[in-house]
Amino acid sequence: MWTLRRSIPRMSIDALIARLDAYDADPSAVRLRTRSYELLGDPAGLVADVGCGAGLAVAELAERGVQAVGVDVSEQMIELARRRRSGADFRIGGACDLPFGDGELAGYRADKVFHELADPTRALAEARRVLMPGGRIVLVGQDWDTFVIDSSAPELTRRIVHARADQITSPRAARAHRSLLLDAGFQDVAVEVHTAVFTGQRAEPMLGMLTAAAEAACTSGVVTRAEADGWLAEQRDRVRSDRFLLAVPMFVAAATRPPSRTA
Ligand SMILES: C[S@@+](CC[C@H](N)C(=O)[O-])C[C@H]1O[C@@H](n2cnc3c(N)ncnc32)[C@H](O)[C@@H]1O
Repeated sequence: MWTLRRSIPRMSIDALIARLDAYDADPSAVRLRTRSYELLGDPAGLVADVGCGAGLAVAELAERGVQAVGVDVSEQMIELARRRRSGADFRIGGACDLPFGDGELAGYRADKVFHELADPTRALAEARRVLMPGGRIVLVGQDWDTFVIDSSAPELTRRIVHARADQITSPRAARAHRSLLLDAGFQDVAVEVHTAVFTGQRAEPMLGMLTAAAEAACTSGVVTRAEADGWLAEQRDRVRSDRFLLAVPMFVAAATRPPSRTA
């Protein structure tokens, strides 16, 4: 059963925003967003950024001359987006119940969103409904099962990464983008994988994510408290001594809404 998550606890939204802001500023994230905009083509009409968060992509698309609208299920995110990007169009809505009519959109983009969806298939059926024939869809997302973390305890690291992935609603949605798009009847489906690498000064903001992963593993009983604390202590040391490395595969899938007669 699909449920709308209209309200996120204040602490968790602040932590999420801080992490997204740190990631967004990273040059690899800038390149990835730029690539996602290129893959939208030259949209002849409205483009929706679904799960828009604080609205950065909506602002960047507008700078490129695209008529963009941000949609998010979270009221707090939409409030924040409106505060940060006054004048831009933001609407509350769920990925399976978008506030658009049939064929209203020339483009659909969702970045780091599908892993949060319990039913990605239903979201793509909705994407197809709101896209016009020939409209473009671009999905960007991380694969939570394949985070690469340099550590002196690789087996423990694997347990921690997988325990965190197991807490995510659809942790492997990104590797399934291609199949999901094909199953939903999209055409010209293409996939790229870009690796986000965090070392040096980019490492510090990622410690929060690793702490969450270690906590997840501890809570689910996959590692002991002592193992989690020892593992985190090593990662903090690595940040201090510039020996930290986190690499995350980012999947980008793009496709075209077919003409109605082949629908
Ligand atoms: C990890 S954030 C990514 C935000 C933004 N796309 C970015 O790249 O920075 C995921 C966003 O998806 C939103 N979201 C989660 N489930 C959603 C749903 N069912 N429909 C629409 N938005 C959703 C969350 O509220 C959050 O803003």
